[in-house]
Amino acid sequence: NPEKTLDTFELTKAAAGFYHQELFKHPEARQYLQNRGITQETIEKYQIGFAPNNWDFIFKSLCADSRQNPDKVSKLLDIGLIKENESGRYYDMFRNRVIIPIRDKKGNVIAFGGRVLDNSKPKYINSKESEIYKKGYELFNLDYVRKLPKEELNCIIITEGYMDVIALDQYGVHNAVASLGTATTPMQLSLLFKQTDKIVFCYDGDDAGRHAAWRAFGLTLSAVRDDKVLSFCFLPKEHDPDSLVRAQGAAGFRKYLENSLFFKDYLMSELSHRYDLGSDEGQIKAVDEFCSLVKRITDAPIMLQSLIVAMAKLVGWEERRIEICLQNKQ
Ligand code: UTP
Ligand code: MN
Ligand code: MN
Ligand code: MN
Ligand code: MN
Repeated sequence: NPEKTLDTFELTKAAAGFYHQELFKHPEARQYLQNRGITQETIEKYQIGFAPNNWDFIFKSLCADSRQNPDKVSKLLDIGLIKENESGRYYDMFRNRVIIPIRDKKGNVIAFGGRVLDNSKPKYINSKESEIYKKGYELFNLDYVRKLPKEELNCIIITEGYMDVIALDQYGVHNAVASLGTATTPMQLSLLFKQTDKIVFCYDGDDAGRHAAWRAFGLTLSAVRDDKVLSFCFLPKEHDPDSLVRAQGAAGFRKYLENSLFFKDYLMSELSHRYDLGSDEGQIKAVDEFCSLVKRITDAPIMLQSLIVAMAKLVGWEERRIEICLQNKQ
């Protein structure tokens, strides 16, 4: 029902507006953003806002007339901006948090992210999935990225968080998106491959980020194509894209980007770290894992062949032996 959806987007847009206006009444929130190096211009571009420490700020702002408008209330419940307690009273989901509106590729606000101003937990809360918000199908910033001029779309960078995207954008790296609190899905990759021929994963440098990159690798296999490029950018342990671009600027960040590992090289590097390739046993295990992974590549015959050549070289086997192992897996 397109009419119903339109209403909901009007509601989310109004909510984003209320949060955004509220930011200017809260010096502590503006100070927090300033300490993170976020400029006024960026606040405006991303309509960053603030949810005050108040049980019914957004409810009252949007539903002063709630008795007359139960439909509005049920929409707010659906999209998770408010909740209902045991005694039937409504209360705001986001309180005392900086608010980042999350938009779909057309620019409609479909969800919100909220970050605390200090070190309390949980650090972030995000809108639940709803009729207008399916995490695995959305990417933060895709609405801006798809409007970039061709020369800025030589690749699209996928980061872990919207704060990474926002910082990169402010420092001049405009072609970044973030997956939203879940591993990147094949659906998201195919959305991005409509805009670019090259996707670079750039997760946090910490262990969690490295594990996420490996998980992403596994999930991208079915999306590998011979006319597309997937690569993986690794940052120093202490950095994420946000902190790195603030410390070293766009030029510093781009140096890491240039040193990204292509899909094939990343796989070879991971397998050689995971297994002792000097032993028969290690070689067998590595080949076994290799075959379990690459059998999921169904639409990239040239890439598959090139992976087999690289794997044969890595363990010192004949290509034929790798091919037989692969056939036995399929
Ligand atoms: P991080 O913990 O690396 O977030 O999680 P960050 O953006 O670097 O955090 P700060 O603000 O700079 O300290 C990466 C992303 O994972 C999601 C958020 O989207 C975050 O940007 N996340 C993280 C959550 O949804 N919930 C959490 O509790 C933590
Ligand atoms: Mn404004
Ligand atoms: Mn992290
Ligand atoms: Mn991070
Ligand atoms: Mn960060």
